[in-house]
Amino acid sequence: MSRFSQLWAEIAPIGRADSGGYLRFALTEPELTLRDWFRGQAAQRDMTVTEDGNGNLFAWRGEPWAPGTVLTGSHFDSVPHGGGYDGPLGIVSAFLAVDAVPKDRKIGVAAFVEEEGGRFGVPCLGSRLLTGVMDPSRAAALTDRDGISFEEALGARPVGRIEQIANIAAVVELHIEQGIALRTPVGVGSAIWPHGRWRMDFAGVGDHAGTTRMTDRHDPMLTFAFTVLAANKEARLSGAHATVGRVQVEPNATNAIPSLVRGWLDARAADTATLDQLVESVVKKATERAGRDGTALSVTPESVTAEVAFDTALAARLSALLDDAPILPTGAGHDAGVLSAHVPTAMLFVRNPTGVSHSPAEHASDADCEAGIEALARVLEDLS
Ligand code: GLV
Ligand code: MN
Ligand code: MN
Ligand code: MN
Repeated sequence: MSRFSQLWAEIAPIGRADSGGYLRFALTEPELTLRDWFRGQAAQRDMTVTEDGNGNLFAWRGEPWAPGTVLTGSHFDSVPHGGGYDGPLGIVSAFLAVDAVPKDRKIGVAAFVEEEGGRFGVPCLGSRLLTGVMDPSRAAALTDRDGISFEEALGARPVGRIEQIANIAAVVELHIEQGIALRTPVGVGSAIWPHGRWRMDFAGVGDHAGTTRMTDRHDPMLTFAFTVLAANKEARLSGAHATVGRVQVEPNATNAIPSLVRGWLDARAADTATLDQLVESVVKKATERAGRDGTALSVTPESVTAEVAFDTALAARLSALLDDAPILPTGAGHDAGVLSAHVPTAMLFVRNPTGVSHSPAEHASDADCEAGIEALARVLEDLS
């Protein structure tokens, strides 16, 4: 059994649901168990563990935050019933790559909190706080589906920007590729599509399903359904991506016309103008339709992430170092994207044969993961 398969087998059962996917939400029991595992891995390597007061966890070879340190790692949290590779592969790979790098190099391994926004709604919450682009009081007040705030889950108010981020020489996040574009074992990231989440509240008039005449209804489900179809059509027309993967209905009864439908639009595009145009056009069409249905629409942007272009020279250097590994963009968000505005940052992608991600079917072969670890070690050695 390889070192990778051993470590992978250690964490595989943690937070796995009957679906085969994972329920590893930030600061819940499975994620806390993974953090303990992280501390154990750090101890085995004589690395110093620190926390940053924002929920992010670090293991350091050398002094914490020493100038010139290269930071690598990813996140433990998953989307509901997500795959096991999205996030944890970058942390397991980081520890194994550290083993292959000369001991005098200054390397930090990070486990960023709430990358998926699966619990508190804002993705990359930990890296946004750490870099100071997220207001700590806004983060503190975010609540999960049970009404527990981020501050309560963390056990303290997040502290916000960590000034020592300026000491970090480079950030490299290794991640499973989440589409089918990568046909070799390892690739290098060039860009992240701009993307965001918009909460759309469709309010109507709740009433009896049997007695209310069809002509008398103000049914927000109709406006919502129209909006989902419109978003899909607009995205196809503009080469963008639009998804409504989460919905809440009130009162959520088979025999009641809903009084409220709340859906979350996830929209992404290769450039900001296309994304803005997509969202504007979906909201315009939804508003017109709400007028016809006698319902009301309110739209709240929950998080919007600007287009990320990773450091071009750094990406070219890593590609050359890795025998001309392909350089490719992604439509998935990452902590590396947030960090790239503050530190020279790169990403390594590991091939995903089917491209499926955010699903229990997400997969990468052991051989490709091992190739990723070897690539990460070469990169860390080159940059540190
Ligand atoms: C996170 O993985 C995202 O891109 O939604
Ligand atoms: Mn993800
Ligand atoms: Mn991820
Ligand atoms: Mn992500």
